[in-house]
Amino acid sequence: MMSDKEAIKQLTAYFQRENIRNVVILTDENVNRLYPDYFSGLQEFCQLDHYVLPAGESSKSIETAVKIWDYLAEKQYDRNVFLLNFGGGMVCDLGGFVASTYKRGIRFANHPTTLLAMIDAAVGGKTGINLQYLKNGVGTFYFSDIQLPVDSSLLKTLPDEELRSGFGELVKYALIGSEELFQKLCKLKSINDLETDSLEFCINFKRNIVEKDPKDNGLRHILNFGHTIGHAIESYCAEAGTPIAHGLAVAQGLYYESLLSAKRGHLPQNEWQQIAEFLPKHFQILTLTEDVLLKLVVFMQNDKKNTGNLINFTFLDHIGHASPNFQIPISEIQNLLLT
Ligand code: GLY
Repeated sequence: MMSDKEAIKQLTAYFQRENIRNVVILTDENVNRLYPDYFSGLQEFCQLDHYVLPAGESSKSIETAVKIWDYLAEKQYDRNVFLLNFGGGMVCDLGGFVASTYKRGIRFANHPTTLLAMIDAAVGGKTGINLQYLKNGVGTFYFSDIQLPVDSSLLKTLPDEELRSGFGELVKYALIGSEELFQKLCKLKSINDLETDSLEFCINFKRNIVEKDPKDNGLRHILNFGHTIGHAIESYCAEAGTPIAHGLAVAQGLYYESLLSAKRGHLPQNEWQQIAEFLPKHFQILTLTEDVLLKLVVFMQNDKKNTGNLINFTFLDHIGHASPNFQIPISEIQNLLLT
């Protein structure tokens, strides 16, 4: 397991090499309360400043970005200031966006504190803020200047629900990238027993895909496996007044998109059976009645990744291997999922 000391060692060496003197740590109230002195070891080498955000997705807005830009400007930070994002997906996405825009771009790094951010948001250079009705409606591609090793000891204080949400995303990586990891997850007694090498597989897998398709033009869509239906379920639950965590919706998307993969003849039946047994052990799966499916389809049509009546899917060929960019008519999705 990598420790905080390793990240601090690497940051120290980087700051000295790059002659960075001013570091602003961007974090949220929860992380700040739990780990107020996490980076104190850096104080010897640079001036540390903290900007603490209210926790939660509502901070991921243009209003918050303006407040941080104003703060940086009032403190007269020039382009040599370094932004260190210390938190979950909201902090990494918003912080990356601020870093990419303040004075046309400053250097930054992510040090994620949630499982979801460790294996997804903190990797791959997507930054963003939400518009009122559009998640990540505005953003940039902007890559961090140093990739820090994850500190999985931070997960000890993560609420169970958030750990399970990250686990949903982790299962995605197993399904699209490693049969071996999938079999390992099947044997896992508890999510708390996850090993760091499983996280590292996901991080390296994503880095490898992003290296080949940094601007999300094709291959990177593979990372959206489970997300077409997953996002629709997330929106459906939010609209119904019973919001669920992102990764829990993605896990249900993995279930139904694996089912679609099998029904369309991409995924062998026996492999679908393994997935169908595994996912409900860890996640509640919404039953798709005709009414529910109709609502999900509307959300899919409104998704910025889809056009008209064609919905973009990644399908599984095997557990551990997927192919992106199938354009499927809505009527076919409805038929396959209801029969
Ligand atoms: N979360 C999917 C991607 O970064 O492309």
